[in-house]
Amino acid sequence: MTRWISLGAGFVFVFVLLVAFFAPREATEPDPLKALHLKPRNVQWQHDGPLGFGVLGTFDRAQLQRGYQVYTEACSACHGLRYVAFRNLEALGFSEPEVRAIARQRQIADLDPNTGEEITRPGLPSDHFPSPYPNETAARAANNNAYPPDLSLIVSARAGGQKYIYSLLTGYQPAPPGFQVTPGLHYNPYFHSVQIAMPPPLMPGRVEYADGTEATVEQMAADVTAFLRWAAEPELEARRRMGLATIGFLIILSVLAYATYRRVWAGVPH
Ligand code: HEC
Repeated sequence: MTRWISLGAGFVFVFVLLVAFFAPREATEPDPLKALHLKPRNVQWQHDGPLGFGVLGTFDRAQLQRGYQVYTEACSACHGLRYVAFRNLEALGFSEPEVRAIARQRQIADLDPNTGEEITRPGLPSDHFPSPYPNETAARAANNNAYPPDLSLIVSARAGGQKYIYSLLTGYQPAPPGFQVTPGLHYNPYFHSVQIAMPPPLMPGRVEYADGTEATVEQMAADVTAFLRWAAEPELEARRRMGLATIGFLIILSVLAYATYRRVWAGVPH
């Protein structure tokens, strides 16, 4: 008898658990932002490799140079790139004199070696890209209290990586009817709160490419995203080459190990 009671109690317990688990959760309001928020678009770059697996993908140098141009002309007024030094640009295919000239165009905060006073001087190839604002307070004061983050590592720092950055840059659009956009913000369904303080930074023809590529918003977004991907991981190609060499080595080693095994056990009856 007690067995039936405990079995019955067990069934009731499991039933209650199942009901609690599958019961529709109506108590919480559906999040209106969730319905508007979009997942990053599916875009691919040459450095993603064939099929997008990353293996064998190398950066398109011409694209990186265009992306650098977009960053300089359309983003650097608000966003720094503090982990990239001017001399790193040689990896993009710029020559040493070109890098020197690029660095010289920027003013760098420094101390006078004789008096210790704060001065600004033209940049050197060893300097890093200067931040456009002296500190975060100044940056917020100039941007409606929003903070334009440093872009050196942004591709690694955001879920969705380069696809997210590309989608964000190309994703400005009119808000759906009935959606009240907060003054000072801009509707962008790829941003987590669907309203971003950054005004749309790209318009068709925002930059004039030296290589004659047409400067559409999509083109500039793809180029600057490739550039930022490089900035976040300049050693990407070397890492992949190393990975391929390691796999090749392991394959050869496996073949040799198998041959050795056959040889060593050749005379042993089984
Ligand atoms: C007028 C200043 C301004 C310019 C120019 C500008 N941005 Fe921004 N950007 C901002 C501000 C302000 C934010 C912070 C937005 C927020 O938190 O709502 C931001 C945020 C971002 C973010 C981070 C979004 C996130 O998920 O947090 C990225 C990426 C970005 N900008 C990329 C760019 C790129 C690339 C360019 C050039 C094509 C550019 N920005 C040009 C002001 C600017």
